Amino acid sequence: MKGILLIFLLVSVSCFVIFLISITSPESRWVVRIPVCNETVIGDNSGRTVLPYRYPFHHHHHQYYYKKTNISHILFGIGGSSKTWKERRHYSQLWWKPNITRGFVWLDEKPDEHNESWPKNLPPYRVSEDTSRFNYTNLYGSRSAIRMARIVLESYRLGLENVRWFVMGDDDTVFFTENLVTVLSKYDHNQMYYIGGNSESVEQDMVHSYGMAYGGGGFAISYPLVTELVKVLDGCIDRYSDLYGSDERIGACLNEIGVPLTRELGFHQIDIRGDPYGLLAAHPVAPLVSLHHLDYVKPIFPTSTQMDSLKLLVSAYKTDPSRTLQQSFCHDLKRKWSVSVSWGYTTQIYPSLLTAKELGTAMLTFQTWGSWSHDPFLFNTRDMSPEPCEQPLIYFLDRVDEIGDNETMTSYKRHHVDNAARLLLAQAGME
Ligand SMILES: *[C@@H]1O[C@H](CO)[C@@H](O)[C@H](O)[C@H]1NC(C)=O
Ligand SMILES: *[C@@H]1O[C@H](CO)[C@@H](O)[C@H](O)[C@H]1NC(C)=O
Ligand SMILES: *[C@@H]1O[C@H](CO)[C@@H](O)[C@H](O)[C@H]1NC(C)=O
Ligand SMILES: *[C@@H]1O[C@H](CO)[C@@H](O)[C@H](O)[C@H]1NC(C)=O
Ligand SMILES: *[C@@H]1O[C@H](CO)[C@@H](O)[C@H](O)[C@H]1NC(C)=O
Ligand SMILES: *[C@@H]1O[C@H](CO)[C@@H](O)[C@H](O)[C@H]1NC(C)=O
Repeated sequence: MKGILLIFLLVSVSCFVIFLISITSPESRWVVRIPVCNETVIGDNSGRTVLPYRYPFHHHHHQYYYKKTNISHILFGIGGSSKTWKERRHYSQLWWKPNITRGFVWLDEKPDEHNESWPKNLPPYRVSEDTSRFNYTNLYGSRSAIRMARIVLESYRLGLENVRWFVMGDDDTVFFTENLVTVLSKYDHNQMYYIGGNSESVEQDMVHSYGMAYGGGGFAISYPLVTELVKVLDGCIDRYSDLYGSDERIGACLNEIGVPLTRELGFHQIDIRGDPYGLLAAHPVAPLVSLHHLDYVKPIFPTSTQMDSLKLLVSAYKTDPSRTLQQSFCHDLKRKWSVSVSWGYTTQIYPSLLTAKELGTAMLTFQTWGSWSHDPFLFNTRDMSPEPCEQPLIYFLDRVDEIGDNETMTSYKRHHVDNAARLLLAQAGME
């Protein structure tokens, strides 16, 4: 746990510096002014291909002072539809904080069951503009991708004040907003940034792109970059009519502007099948920002429904947001045990000494998104040994208690499923 504490310390020191600076200088918004790409320059005669004119991406040497980013500086744009919202709103309900989080869920039509009383604990809705004038020529996708891609533009045009970041997500994305703020605070919102994560499945990244942020995992675009994006977005939507998704269109368009994706390890598209256990039990040491595709994987706590699982995880998260799913390990050299903790989620005890490198590698409990294969993923995985004596004893979060002012105690309970593990437990003299 000490390692994690050290990281907290670093974060809070840097925040402290920013805060100090902000006391001495008034907040100033500095908006990047760059030329708009002339539409006639971009298309060629066939009207299809693109001349990838890139805006020069300067790193300015000025010093910018601003107050620390907080939740009020984020405008969320959630891609929904009146059809899916009924089921999926439960995901938004997990993280939406009325009067604190700002943003909208964007629907294709007015939901008729909530004419007057849209629930107060959910993001308010907006109905997207008509997009029938755009072509959608992808053979296997849905043309709602065009509507979703334009959410960032329609959000921008609302002209809300003090927006530093536009954060896009799906209606089945669960955001961990405190950590999102922590991550975005590392970046100067006066610069052009495009922040998110790739798909876990390499097959997806190859088909779509490594250069785009996957929309279900959520992504953030800084205000000055959105200012440029909205000028060219509709043109991009025409030029990239053959692409599959909305996120791919945004990625392609930001490519034209010349701003690359900044990858952050806490955004999770969860483009996997099966049991996400191995992935979540070996989360990189980076704040957990989002989870997605939870309808498509096994419940993260095996004895609960997915929604109850998420509620439990969120209850731990609320007591100590940045520690959630952070992995740490230790060894009991006398007993020759290795212990791995993914805070707020699971603990593993191995009856052998594993290296930190092994413990930090995700156990392969899942398959790829498209072909349900065992590989490849963007990160390393390790096979679970079929040998019962090499398998870890697995404990899952049972409860979280706040003890004292700044301390929490998490308790983890054995997961009694496989007899082999139970036998092992008996041998180890723990039962
Ligand atoms: C684009 O360039 C053409 C040719 O130089 C010019 O006539 C036109 O006004 C420009 N359009 C915009 C929007 O700047
Ligand atoms: C967020 O920061 C702004 C300053 O930019 C401040 O006015 C506002 O009170 C802060 N809001 C929260 C919720 O901390
Ligand atoms: C949100 O703010 C409005 C108006 O400021 C207030 O009427 C309402 O009670 C608030 N809702 C919550 C959940 O705090
Ligand atoms: C909502 O309004 C639509 C038409 O605007 C109507 O058809 C529908 O019955 C209304 N639903 C409720 C629950 O009032
Ligand atoms: C849409 O596709 C049709 C047929 O290929 C083409 O004629 C038209 O120009 C396209 N429209 C746009 C906006 O690209
Ligand atoms: C808890 O943290 C606060 C702020 O970091 C500090 O002032 C306080 O002394 C701490 N309390 C305990 C019991 O450690």
